Amino acid sequence: MQGKKILDKLIIKGQNLLNGEVEISGSKNASLPILFATLLTDKDIILNNVPNLRDVTLSIKLLEYIGKKIEYLNNNKILIRQLSNIKYDAPYDLVRQMRASVLIIGPMFARYKKALVSLPGGCAIGIRPINLHLEGLKELGADIDLVNGYVSVFCKNFLSNKIIKLKYPSVGATENLIMSSIFIEGKTVIENVAKEPEIIDLCNFLNKMGAIIKGIGTSKIEIFGVKKENLKSIEYTIIPDRIEAGTFIILGALASESLVIKNFEAGHIEKFLEKVEATETKIEKLSKNILKVYGNKNIKPVSIETSPYPGFPTDMQAQWMVFMTQAEGKSIIKENIFENRFMHVAEMMRLGANLEIKNNTVLVNGKTELKGANVMATDLRASAALVLAGLVASGKTEISRIYHLDRGYEAIEKKMTKINAKIFRVKE
Ligand code: UD1
Repeated sequence: MQGKKILDKLIIKGQNLLNGEVEISGSKNASLPILFATLLTDKDIILNNVPNLRDVTLSIKLLEYIGKKIEYLNNNKILIRQLSNIKYDAPYDLVRQMRASVLIIGPMFARYKKALVSLPGGCAIGIRPINLHLEGLKELGADIDLVNGYVSVFCKNFLSNKIIKLKYPSVGATENLIMSSIFIEGKTVIENVAKEPEIIDLCNFLNKMGAIIKGIGTSKIEIFGVKKENLKSIEYTIIPDRIEAGTFIILGALASESLVIKNFEAGHIEKFLEKVEATETKIEKLSKNILKVYGNKNIKPVSIETSPYPGFPTDMQAQWMVFMTQAEGKSIIKENIFENRFMHVAEMMRLGANLEIKNNTVLVNGKTELKGANVMATDLRASAALVLAGLVASGKTEISRIYHLDRGYEAIEKKMTKINAKIFRVKE
């Protein structure tokens, strides 16, 4: 497992012309809530297309601590079984390493009407509170206490037929509240929910198990309570990772003759693909889930601003910035989701990028020649951006702290070596 090599670094020798095919792995952000949703049932669940990533390993550790038994049937297929006793707490040591651990609150609340979960850690890209999760749970009948860094959720009786309106379409809060509601008698309505493909995947998974969720993919979700005993044992395949696909599409435009991107859903990144096409990068759709992107020597500058789905994904903002350093002219990148998601800017400037930060916008002055340097990965998507920059830069780039990268990209250097990149993992 890559994730154990905490102190690895990547060495990249840039400017090799890339070529070939890339298979996209299963989605990290769909896998995590679905893994936690298996806590809703005692029945066996098989999941396919689960990416081999540090965040998945951490989620599995947490599930095992709680009382599940996980067996790898092959590299990306897992069987999740219930051992006899299930705990309802998630300790600091496990939770601090991954923010998405808060997603166990929903299934525990649904099953036991209680949960004791340490406040999360994870990517340092802003304050990232969980107030929206907790406010929603209160509306469903929960009493909430914060004690010694733990959130304690307790509920005597679920409140039925509630209409909850989220103040902001938070991905995590939407997922937690949907999972919380599936056994509540009557109809629970959640409005202004997030509509990300990963949320649709979670709802499809829950419905396949026997939940009744309507309005999937719209901003109003309706959940009709079912009995826990009625949930079924199922096998389910996780959707492909749209952010990994997007990262390789940018790489194809920046540094390849051409790259074929396989096993992804173009419909999940429509807005992103429109922006790529606006840069006058040639993209050929070979089929619904296979796309060919051609290297672009005359990238047009295209400004973007991030917004909740179906807008431009914040998880592609850092990679887009690298893309724009190679465009002829100025572009503006505006980050609307996270208040501190520009940590890659200083590192990219070390490689020669000409960037000016003002509040939540960055002005990219392209085109600049990037030159290899030592840089540090600061969060997951920033790390991916540095890899792209290293592959475009002349000479050698060393990226330290790449454990961030292992949280979200399966076998990244193997996939990149296969398309002719010079990228090596070494001990720091
Ligand atoms: C998820 C994704 C992450 C992605 C993000 C936005 C997973 C595991 N992670 O994170 O990769 O970048 O969606 O697309 O799926 N907020 C609050 N209070 C809350 C919850 C959120 O103020 O209770 C704020 C956050 O601080 C942030 C914004 O809402 O500024 C969006 O957060 P949210 O949509 O909840 O993102 P995550 O679920 O944490």
